[in-house]
Amino acid sequence: MNYISNKNLELKGKKVLLRVDLNVPMKNGYITESSRIEKILPTINLLIEKQAKIVILSHIGRPKGKVVEDMSLEPISRKLASLINKKVLFNKEKINEKTKSEINNIPNGSIMMLENIRFYEGEEANNNEFSNKLSDLGDVYVNDAFSCSHRSHASIEGITKHIPSFFGLQIIKEIDALKKLTSEIKKPITLIIGGSKISTKINIINNLIKKFDNIIIVGGMANTMLKHTGKKIGKSIVENDCKNSVEEILKNSKKYNCNITCPVDVVVAKDIQSKGKNKSISKVDNDEMILDIGPKTVSSIKQIVNESKTVLWNGPAGYFENPSFQNGTKKILEIISKKTESDKIFSVAGGGETVAAINKFKKLNSFTFVSTAGGAFLEYLEGKTLPGINALNQNV
Ligand code: 3PG
Repeated sequence: MNYISNKNLELKGKKVLLRVDLNVPMKNGYITESSRIEKILPTINLLIEKQAKIVILSHIGRPKGKVVEDMSLEPISRKLASLINKKVLFNKEKINEKTKSEINNIPNGSIMMLENIRFYEGEEANNNEFSNKLSDLGDVYVNDAFSCSHRSHASIEGITKHIPSFFGLQIIKEIDALKKLTSEIKKPITLIIGGSKISTKINIINNLIKKFDNIIIVGGMANTMLKHTGKKIGKSIVENDCKNSVEEILKNSKKYNCNITCPVDVVVAKDIQSKGKNKSISKVDNDEMILDIGPKTVSSIKQIVNESKTVLWNGPAGYFENPSFQNGTKKILEIISKKTESDKIFSVAGGGETVAAINKFKKLNSFTFVSTAGGAFLEYLEGKTLPGINALNQNV
């Protein structure tokens, strides 16, 4: 099998191009949540043990093929160095004729990180010339970025056409957990989905409606559902052009007998710095914004979770960074983790912000599995073939 855990895989002195997902949340140049870095440490340690020359490829943000100084991986290379307690050479230069010899010159068992791979236009375009150029920097490629494997990008998919390619340790863990979830699904099954944009998740929601008994919509995307079903949402964030998407979700939910739940009460404020107050959804004023779900909504979520055997959660219920609007997210966490701890449900959480909330409220061990992935996690659950995984399966 093309797994790096394979004992017969000799990597001593080999240049290993390791694609990971270091797309971590940052504020004013500081990393606010580092789970994605921590999760790849076992793979890096294994490669160190095997005495490989490790070349880390990753992206952060969406610089769209341009160099954006704020989206440099340099601070992340420092964080990785401190977590792994080993020097991480950061190669800030764009890939050029010297890069190959610079990689050749690093000692066995050491690490070099290249600059944000999305600074190159060829990355997202999955340009063949670019993936060939990338592959030329190494002897072997390893994908340990499950959370990017839904992207047909050069460092995820294209590169595997040019070089022997392997699964890392974390990607296997993620696939195994989600495979178990999809093959041994225990009903009733509930999805709690939040986040700001319904437009990016509309296809996913419409596909999951066919498989799920309940979909609870919270966070910014609930505003879009509420607005297009005639509720007043004041100056809350909303997608105005999503009326058709909302109608489609509601139509499909009837067709497939999936119960859709939206907030019936909310926490509002004039801005994100202020203190919030609870209101029924029918009472939101024009100058208020919705920043969390209210206690009645929390109660109905509790009831649904209590009647479920499987619960998936992706996306916070509100702007939990401000303690005034953290209650909904915190309560959802408490409800799911309590049920999981008493072994009543199989629970999976996924997504960058969701993991940040889990860490903030110290509930990391209260889920059956926590995925580092957001979009990839949802697409996998939809039953889609992820291009990054498909590419590795074909490269044997
Ligand atoms: C993620 O954060 O889900 C991954 O890093 C993928 O990022 P993307 O949605 O910008 O492709």
